[in-house]
Amino acid sequence: MKALLESLRPGDKDSELARAIDPARLPEHIAIIMDGNGRWAGRRFLPRVAGHKAGVAPVRVTAETCARLGVKVLTLFAFSVENWKRPRHEVETLWRLLRYYLKQELPTLQKNDIRLQVIGRVDALPLEVRRELDATIDATFSNRGMVLNLAINYGGRAEIVDAVNSILDMARLDGSIHTLKMDEDLIATSLYTASCPDPDLLIRTSGEMRISNFLLWQIAYAELYVTETLWPDFTRTDLLLAVLEYQKRDRRYGGLSAPRGLPAGVTINEESLQPALRES
Ligand code: FPP
Repeated sequence: MKALLESLRPGDKDSELARAIDPARLPEHIAIIMDGNGRWAGRRFLPRVAGHKAGVAPVRVTAETCARLGVKVLTLFAFSVENWKRPRHEVETLWRLLRYYLKQELPTLQKNDIRLQVIGRVDALPLEVRRELDATIDATFSNRGMVLNLAINYGGRAEIVDAVNSILDMARLDGSIHTLKMDEDLIATSLYTASCPDPDLLIRTSGEMRISNFLLWQIAYAELYVTETLWPDFTRTDLLLAVLEYQKRDRRYGGLSAPRGLPAGVTINEESLQPALRES
């Protein structure tokens, strides 16, 4: 948080928004479905790939802002297992942009102490893309700030299938297959995101009310935030507004927020107890 405030001009709108954020209740993990690149381009009578190109800058701003804010993990949905159905030219442009981003943004990742990780079926990616990803993962391996997970050739169902298969493979190898018992912990620790906390906040741009096969297991209790803003227009302000909205939510994880009998929406905190405490 301190790093973010130091990077903003005092009195600016973003500086004021950042100041309103409670550093003690930051989302540890933010996941984003970056949607609307095609529509952004369409509205400007440009080819779809122009929207993807315009989507690179918000990736940089979002990663940098989250890192400076003190978010521990940022997961971005860059390419789904279903995206191969898009025209070849579009898919190839996405690979080119990803390689460009990785080369161009290494200094930003290093400066902000960000460690890059990839989640998804990476083996199926073109060799040059895998090489660039491996090089950036290696170069940022010892960074200890935020983890940036790029979800590439990623699908939530595919991830669960891969996790279950890896559990079965391990059990066959160590001879425990006949006594193997599945439980939530075993699956969670076999997912691509095993080392990360579950997302607290899932942001989707461009107004669609869908999960699109993203982090199906991990978002069980995530707060959802959908903005009409198209991804290429997503700014630091939009991100800070999403975090502020998250901090207004009452996270109950299936439990209760306040003793029964209180009117809906009323929660008890120190501030609301002050008048009663003064009277007693
Ligand atoms: C969805 O918009 C977006 C994608 C499928 C790709 C996301 C890629 C980027 C933001 C560019 C670069 C990424 C990195 C990590 C450097 P859409 O094409 O589905 O938009 P539409 O719904 O309006 O058609």
